[in-house]
Amino acid sequence: MLALDKRNPSPFKIALIYFSATGNTKKIADTIESGLENQNISVTKIDITSYESRKKQLPLSQYDAVIFGFPIYSLRAPRVCRQWLEQLDGNGKKCSVFFTFGGFGKDPAHYYMKELLEKRCFTPVSTAEFLGVHTFNRCGWQAAEGRPNQSDFEAAEEYAQKTLRRFTGEDPNVISTFDKPMYSSEQLDMAEKFRFQLITQLPSRETLSCSMCMLCEKLCPTNAMDAEKGIADPAFCIACFRCMANCPDGVLHTNDISDTWDNKLKMHTTTKEEINQMESKIYL
Ligand SMILES: Cc1cc2nc3c(=O)[nH]c(=O)nc-3n(C[C@H](O)[C@H](O)[C@H](O)COP(=O)(O)O)c2cc1C
Repeated sequence: MLALDKRNPSPFKIALIYFSATGNTKKIADTIESGLENQNISVTKIDITSYESRKKQLPLSQYDAVIFGFPIYSLRAPRVCRQWLEQLDGNGKKCSVFFTFGGFGKDPAHYYMKELLEKRCFTPVSTAEFLGVHTFNRCGWQAAEGRPNQSDFEAAEEYAQKTLRRFTGEDPNVISTFDKPMYSSEQLDMAEKFRFQLITQLPSRETLSCSMCMLCEKLCPTNAMDAEKGIADPAFCIACFRCMANCPDGVLHTNDISDTWDNKLKMHTTTKEEINQMESKIYL
């Protein structure tokens, strides 16, 4: 392990790039950052959640390795993140990726993300998944309440240490292969298009007590929110609920989907308790 010596900072530089609409992925990114900094590693955190931030040129050549962090949306990293990754050139650089998810499906994510990163000439050395309270608990679900918790943060620290050993070459291995998912990318694309539109309405405002701070519009990852009109454009909204999570006036809302919760559990043959007891995992 690299020795901690604050007087002689290690030249090893890591870019920690994450998308986080409601804060779970950021919490894990923060834990990874402090774990690495305790090892005297230079970490630059880059938040690519906003629309504007994803248009900026990324100076990847400045870093020795990259860690990506994404939430799971419809079994994979959000489409906007995958599209953003498509324009990067890893140039052989080592990388790792972690996901946060709400306790339901996530398995195709590891396989397809590895495939995408390799296509972009990155060398993935590890992946991980951490529980995070499901975004749709805001409208009536009860999945992964209170997550990430202490056990998830401990898993994130372990992930940071093990990934660092692979980045520095102390552990020379790279990620092993994942089983090919039963759904093709095209099938997942189709499901992604309709899945949440069937149950969630777009965030909108039905009250006049809005201070017109415009934050919802500024923060929207896809430029879908129109603060003046108080509604998101269905052609662009990805139902991430970033606008609702950050509205200082609490005037944005969506529909209540509590009535879909029991069916969701049945579809996944699971229970609320089983989901809440799931553990975060590291894949090496
Ligand atoms: C549009 C959408 C789709 C989601 N799809 C899934 C999913 O397929 N499986 C799952 O376990 N969680 C799913 N989630 C829950 C998120 O992955 C989870 O809450 C995540 O930690 C949110 O990260 P953030 O707080 O950093 O935005 C979904 C959330 C949203 C908004």
